[in-house]
Amino acid sequence: MHYLLAALLSFASLSFALPVNNIEERASCYEVDGVGTFTNHASYDFSTLQSLPLPDGLYISQDPPIAASGQAQYARQSLASNVDIANGYLEIKVPGSQDPSSDILTYGEVHTAADVLYGSVRTYAILSNEAGTCQGMFFYKSDTQEIDIEFLSDPQSTAQDGVPALHYTNQHAAGQPTTTSYTPPPSDYDTSVVEYKIDWTKDYTAFYVNGVLQEMYTQNVPTVAGTWLWNNWANGDPTWSTGPPVEDSVMRIQRIEMYFNSTAGTSC
Ligand SMILES: *[C@@H]1O[C@H](CO)[C@@H](O)[C@H](O)[C@H]1NC(C)=O
Repeated sequence: MHYLLAALLSFASLSFALPVNNIEERASCYEVDGVGTFTNHASYDFSTLQSLPLPDGLYISQDPPIAASGQAQYARQSLASNVDIANGYLEIKVPGSQDPSSDILTYGEVHTAADVLYGSVRTYAILSNEAGTCQGMFFYKSDTQEIDIEFLSDPQSTAQDGVPALHYTNQHAAGQPTTTSYTPPPSDYDTSVVEYKIDWTKDYTAFYVNGVLQEMYTQNVPTVAGTWLWNNWANGDPTWSTGPPVEDSVMRIQRIEMYFNSTAGTSC
């Protein structure tokens, strides 16, 4: 059956032209135009949900504190209280008014099971412009098996040139060349739903915003299965997230579409 993904959507509120993605469903597999074939499709539409719990396949992270290291100024910890479904969105928050001198900074994070091995993952989100957080949509297995789209909201972060910016990275192992770059976000990133997409095959990673290619890497491409995550956090690192934010920072995810393979290795 041929159909346009865009035709499935009825987003009266969207103010941008939805990118057209040709998806062909084939004997329990999904062929994503220009990327490849995937055995799994997960679709999470938060605009149809009233409240928690998260839909099957997504989990709220509740991990032990991560100590401050490197240039991080403060420890941080993911708490379930910083994740909600409300107003048609999955809301992932760094609360404002946290006192970093006496508290561990809390943040929110949502993740999939740890068996994603290649995929085309689209996140439809309104990001927060509150300065001082890192809003991530990413793949993680280890610090050298990681693919990131990360938004740094603080123009003063030394990772960028005085503007809030989207960063695209394959994390590298020691001795390997770095694969990281950044662009400004769309002008309406904090008021409109924007599509952020990562394509990951064994040959490359590609990063798209509203269907427009921003970066592509053939080096440091992860080779093992791991987890897809969405988070919003701060640890005071002047070279990265900065923060904590003064007011609440709320990343609003309207929808997630994932076409992916897993370690189960189903054939098409
Ligand atoms: C995903 O798995 C299917 C079935 O094994 C395979 O045919 C396909 O090439 C895989 N896709 C990618 C992008 O590696």
